[in-house]
Amino acid sequence: MMDLDILGHSVEQLEYNEAARDTFLLIKVRPGVSKKKATESLKDLNVASVEVENWTRKEGLHPDLIDMMIGCLSVPINSLVSCHFPTSLSQCHLYTLNDDGPLIQSVSVDDNSEGTAGSCVWQLPCTEFESIWENLIFDDNIKNELLSYLISLIDLSERGVDSSIISVNRLMLLLGAPGTGKTSICKGLAQLSSIILNDKFSKCAMIEVNSHSLFSKWFSESGKLVARLFEQAEEMASDDSTLLFLLIDEAESLCTRRSSCGNDPTDSIRAVNALLTQLDKLRRRSNVFVLCTSNLGDSLDGALIDRSDVSRVVPLPGERALTAIYRSCIQQLIAIGVISPTSDEVMESVCSTLSSSSLSLSARSIRQIPAVAYAKSMKRRMNLETFVPFLFKALEDKKKKLTSHV
Ligand SMILES: Nc1ncnc2c1ncn2[C@@H]1O[C@H](COP(=O)(O)OP(=O)(O)O)[C@@H](O)[C@H]1O
Ligand SMILES: [Mg+2]
Repeated sequence: MMDLDILGHSVEQLEYNEAARDTFLLIKVRPGVSKKKATESLKDLNVASVEVENWTRKEGLHPDLIDMMIGCLSVPINSLVSCHFPTSLSQCHLYTLNDDGPLIQSVSVDDNSEGTAGSCVWQLPCTEFESIWENLIFDDNIKNELLSYLISLIDLSERGVDSSIISVNRLMLLLGAPGTGKTSICKGLAQLSSIILNDKFSKCAMIEVNSHSLFSKWFSESGKLVARLFEQAEEMASDDSTLLFLLIDEAESLCTRRSSCGNDPTDSIRAVNALLTQLDKLRRRSNVFVLCTSNLGDSLDGALIDRSDVSRVVPLPGERALTAIYRSCIQQLIAIGVISPTSDEVMESVCSTLSSSSLSLSARSIRQIPAVAYAKSMKRRMNLETFVPFLFKALEDKKKKLTSHV
């Protein structure tokens, strides 16, 4: 457990306190409550100590504050972090959620042609991404690693790093099997950064590129469409107070290895070249991060892999992560009244037995099992022991389905 007691420390002292520097308090403010009033409520908090698991939420603090998350980069995700109030306000990031939903941006080859949905734009932090981060469970510290990388790059840019000496591309590539959480990590990272960095960037947005539609409709024009899409990104990024994330999900559809393009390779090559040229242009802006994911790392163009500062394989969940994912699913069923509350011992034994039979399944597959089991049970409420056989049945069916597709 790490203890963050920064009460009474001067700001200068804080600079030398690694743990304090890496610790963030994300405080969600009730809509309509002014920042000033929320800050006052924060000072009034007479809680001696708030203790939470690193990067999970603590609810119900003050009527003006909906909830709070404490996170520390220098300790592993599942360890406990405690924070004493009143704390240094520089660590506290107040925020309210944007609930406008995504804005579909269309791109077209020229002004006269019909557009295609090239991307959707999320203003962050937004309601849809709110609980992504804490619900992602891994066996290693990948979430902190990636967040720490992102914050360090912002820090280098703020210090005025000369990027012809130290190469900083702000391009991250996540590789791995489908359903391991690549897209979710990107969204969670962007959401968290939009809050943690809200003292540096007053606005934050994510452009989610629709790689498939850029290719499907006007295949021969995809190079031009890519260029158009990046023009839109450039325009948004031209405002230095905006932190911009560009998510290129399933990048293999837009950036396949140029040497492997089939019979008529020119269009794909043109699209890949356009993408690389545009990425190089966008790299000049220190407020833009490009997040790419791919299920097929082998078929990605080498130039994209080369440009990424971090290329990280997102692993399938191991036994510890699987147990935690099952636990979170069952806890959810208890919370909504499908399963009756049960003892910790029963819960742990059920989750660990399930997890040892689930190795090689993705986290996405695991999260689908409880709903299928519930449907199979034909019961509206039951205890965990009654539910377990249905969980196993759903798990076996899932495994069968997956092997029959191989
Ligand atoms: N590591 C994980 N821990 C918990 N849930 C996960 C994890 N990875 C994926 N999921 C679940 O699976 C869903 C799909 O994940 P996604 O990010 O789309 O995977 P990918 O992009 O790798 O195919 C998520 O919404 C989440 O519910
Ligand atoms: Mg994905």
